[in-house]
Amino acid sequence: MYNNITIQLLDQTALLEITRPKFLNALNRETLEEIDHAFSQELLQNKDIRGVIITGAGEKAFVAGADIKEFVNYSAEEGAALAKWGHGVMNRIYEFPKPIIAAINGYALGGGLELALACHMRVASQNAKMGLPEVTLGLIPGYGGTQRLASLVGRGKALEMIMSGEMIDAVEAHQWGLVNHVTNQEDLYNTCNHLLKKMYEKSPKAIAAAIKVVNAGLDKSKDGYEEEVKAFGESFGTPDFREGTDAFIAKRKPNF
Ligand code: HXC
Repeated sequence: MYNNITIQLLDQTALLEITRPKFLNALNRETLEEIDHAFSQELLQNKDIRGVIITGAGEKAFVAGADIKEFVNYSAEEGAALAKWGHGVMNRIYEFPKPIIAAINGYALGGGLELALACHMRVASQNAKMGLPEVTLGLIPGYGGTQRLASLVGRGKALEMIMSGEMIDAVEAHQWGLVNHVTNQEDLYNTCNHLLKKMYEKSPKAIAAAIKVVNAGLDKSKDGYEEEVKAFGESFGTPDFREGTDAFIAKRKPNF
C-alpha cells in the first residue's frame, strides 16, 4: 500500500519505519504524504494501536532532511507552499491523541529533526547526530523547527543550532533536553516500547487530554489554563475515570 514507509503492529505499538535508506530516508513529498495518510487513517482509527514509534530504515539515518533534490528549482511561492503543507502534516503528528516516540537511530537533520520535534518524545541511539543545517543551503527550517526547537531547548540553544548549522551528538542533545533518553543502538526499539508500555496501563482518554492541553499552553492563540480546566472537567464524564477510580477503591489495577 505504501512505497516509502512500512507499518508493523507489534502488540499495541505501531512501528512506522521510513524506508528510503539509500537516500538516508530523506522526506520526499510522497514519503511525507504517506506518513500523513498513516496518521490520519489506520494509526488514528485502529483501537488496538495505543502508541507509535517512528524510525528510519538502515544503520545510518533517522531522516537526513527534506529531499533537497525535489526543491532545488522552487520559486518563493512554491517554497512557502511546501512549508505550509508540511506544517499541516507535522501538526497532525504533534496533536495526535496517542503517544508518539521518535526513535532517532542516526542522522536527524533538517526536516528529519523537525519530524522528531513534532513527536511527543524522542529517544536517541548513541550514534545519533542531530542538526538543522538549512542555513548551509541558504534556507531556514520550514517544518516548524524554528518554533518547536526554541520551545524545547530555549531560544539561545535553538539559535546556536540554527545559525551554525552544526550537528550535535546524542549525549549533548540529552543535556540540552532535546531528547528524553539515550540508549545503545540495539536497545533503541525496546527502550521506546518500554516507555510506551507504561503509558498503555494508563487511561488513553486522559493521555489524549494531556497532549491536547500541554500543546494548548504552547499555542499563542490559546489559554492553556482554560483548556486545562475544560479538559479536567470533561475527564469526570469518561468511562476511564469510572474505571480508574473504581479500581483504586477496590484496590485492584485499572483495566483501560
Ligand atoms: C536528498 C539526500 C539527502 C537529502 C542525503 N541524501 N541527504 N538526498 N535530500 N536531504 C542522499 C545523498 O544525495 C546520497 O545520494 C545518499 O543520500 C547518501 O548520502 P551521502 O551524502 O553520500 O552520505 P554521507 O557522505 O554519509 O553524508 C551524510 C550526510 C549528507 C552528512 C547526512 O548526506 C548530508 O549532508 N545530507 C543533507 C542534509 C541536509 O542538508 N538536510 C536538510 C535538508 S533541507 P546519492 O544518489 O548521491 O548516492 C530541509 C528543509 C526542511 O530539510 C524544510 C522544508 C520546508
